[in-house]
Amino acid sequence: MAYSELRTTENSIKTSTQLNKKNIQNGNKDDFFARKQRLAQQRKSLPIASVEKRLVEEVRKNDTLIIVGETGSGKTTQLPQFLFNGGFCREGKVIGVTQPRRVAAVTVAKRVAEECGVELGQRVGYSIRFEDMTSNSTRIKYMTDGLLLREALLDPFLSRYAVIIVDEAHERTVHTDVLLGLLKNVQKARSQSSSQQCNTEKNKSHNNSAMDDNENSQCFSLLIPCQGRKYPPLKLIIMSASLDAKGFSDYFGGAKAVHIQGRQHPVDILYTLHAERDFLEAALITVFQIHLEEGPGDILVFLTGQEEIESMERLVKDRVQQLPEDKHKIQTVPIFSSLPSEQQMLVFRPAPSGFRKVILATNIAETSVTIPGIKYVIDPGLVKARCYNPRTGMESLITIPTSKAQALQRSGRAGREGPGKCFRLYPESEFAKLADSTVPEIKRCNLSNVILQLKALGVDDIIGFDFMEKPSRMAIVKSLEHLFLLGALTDDYKLSNPVGNQMARLPLDPIYAKSLILASEFNCLEEMLITVAMLSVDSIFYTPREKMKEARDAKKSFASQEGDHLTLMNVFRTSAEFLEKRKMSGSKDKTAERSLGKWCRDNFINSRSLKHARDIHSQIRGHVEQMGLRVTSCGDEMLQFRRCLAASFFLNAALKQPDGSYRALANSQIVRIHPSSVFFRTKPECIIFNELVRTNDDFIRNITRIDPLWLPELAPQYFAAQS
Ligand code: CDP
Ligand code: MG
Repeated sequence: MAYSELRTTENSIKTSTQLNKKNIQNGNKDDFFARKQRLAQQRKSLPIASVEKRLVEEVRKNDTLIIVGETGSGKTTQLPQFLFNGGFCREGKVIGVTQPRRVAAVTVAKRVAEECGVELGQRVGYSIRFEDMTSNSTRIKYMTDGLLLREALLDPFLSRYAVIIVDEAHERTVHTDVLLGLLKNVQKARSQSSSQQCNTEKNKSHNNSAMDDNENSQCFSLLIPCQGRKYPPLKLIIMSASLDAKGFSDYFGGAKAVHIQGRQHPVDILYTLHAERDFLEAALITVFQIHLEEGPGDILVFLTGQEEIESMERLVKDRVQQLPEDKHKIQTVPIFSSLPSEQQMLVFRPAPSGFRKVILATNIAETSVTIPGIKYVIDPGLVKARCYNPRTGMESLITIPTSKAQALQRSGRAGREGPGKCFRLYPESEFAKLADSTVPEIKRCNLSNVILQLKALGVDDIIGFDFMEKPSRMAIVKSLEHLFLLGALTDDYKLSNPVGNQMARLPLDPIYAKSLILASEFNCLEEMLITVAMLSVDSIFYTPREKMKEARDAKKSFASQEGDHLTLMNVFRTSAEFLEKRKMSGSKDKTAERSLGKWCRDNFINSRSLKHARDIHSQIRGHVEQMGLRVTSCGDEMLQFRRCLAASFFLNAALKQPDGSYRALANSQIVRIHPSSVFFRTKPECIIFNELVRTNDDFIRNITRIDPLWLPELAPQYFAAQS
């Protein structure tokens, strides 16, 4: 592919790195002690190591501190260890570190446990939705930001924590933004409790049970419910990779910001001469251009999601076969959020000697995880983002151009250990047109989930909540309305009991949480658990380009005339039966799993996604059982199950139009059936759907046929009022 001449470098060398790639590559041969020694040496050579004392001192002096430092400088792995050694975990207190992404929480915790020489889950652990690797002895706890929000439901003062580090704050995920607001309140409440200002009498008159009765807790709206208990002040650290510390500092009343000097070698930026139509193909060509023409060094390719990563993996493997044998030494490693945890650490492992590692990553590798050994970055300049239209109330995932800040972070990944190259798969003129920074997610997503959580935390006035950046009033009102229609809120927008409370306790999107509650009434909770688990993962089916027909035939064998939900359920159940049979016939768990892998390949099922769905299934089953919902099956009564789907997803009902498109009843939006649906050809009159995907058209996916007469019967709060 043709690139324009080399561009000026973005960064100059500050100091030379002491990390030695050769050292790392020989790593897996090393014995335990050599590895330990090398880890210690790597730690010492990180830019953050030289400022340990100063940082600990700053945290001691300031209740809130902003730390800005280049990616890879050691913030996430080192700072919690510095604070642990600095005595911040006295009296069993914990240092909590939040991450926007599951993979980062898991891989960093594993790394830090290893650096500390402790078993994961002991002093160092992690906790993410559906997976808890902590114990009573955990003192450094990595977790997702969403998980800490959930913890606040049970412990409004976050009393176990001495320090909370909000990491990757520049990402501005919706959870980070809400968390910042909450932590500000918790910090204030805790410092009031520890100072003598706490007026217990006054508290009593407000809310006697604010501490213990978390379901109706009013603590954040009152802010002084200490009830005589004293909490030590909460230390808050906001960490960010972007230089813009001012926004965070202003939000926290002029909090102090410190910068950690990073190390960055020059990176040559290359652009394509023309716009590329197919970014996967362009990335593929560039991988091989580098492999055949450039010197040693690993390649990092930024792709938009699991599906694209997995097709790219297949494309690279196929293309490599066409090369002469001596050029075969390429190893591909994927990394994305829903990758099973046992595969996540593979990305850090050096490739076998003589091999070139090609890492296929989502924007997770921008700043969240730092992978050693990268010299080349391929950046198509795209990212998948949530996009909410408050007018229609619909949220969709769309692929959009990255911001300039993201493009710079991505190219920076090539220059950590030496000079590198970044191949941007777009013309240079396009770069100038990119937005400077990414719009915070809270401004472009459906707010139902966070509003439900805030309500459960006792924050009733959502519009008045102290957000770092306020979402639009329209988006808030639309989401409140949505929650009301789902029955989570009462007429005066208070959390309803028991439905709203139950929904807030389930770690799921409100609409899915509601579907499980309804399913227990419809006697089809077993079916709905499978459905929700299967809808929570990326595509279950895959269709390799060269085996389209075989894949289509395989899919047909699972297809249900009732729709995609039942089709997905057939896959789940058939695979579970297969596994069960293997185990019954004496196969060990591992062997049975391996044959399931083969079964998946034969049936063109994505085994990673299926495994993820099975994990989610068992976790949410645990949740609903704990809540006391009855898990029963409707057996062959699929009508019952479809009625339950209609009652749950009535907001996404649509009617067929004469031209074969559909009109969404909620907002009259015209949508089309996605080619992956069983209804792509035979279109029923009335449907409900779960997902809107925007490409050239508005496509809907995961569809079930329903009877239009069910709608006013099952969702009178919506349809009776409309007619
Ligand atoms: O947070 P920040 O970007 O400043 O850096 P970090 O994540 O603490 O990473 C510090 C160093 O640890 C980098 O050199 C990483 O490559 C390394 N690391 C690793 O080798 N394996 C991990 N699982 C995590 C970090
Ligand atoms: Mg980090």
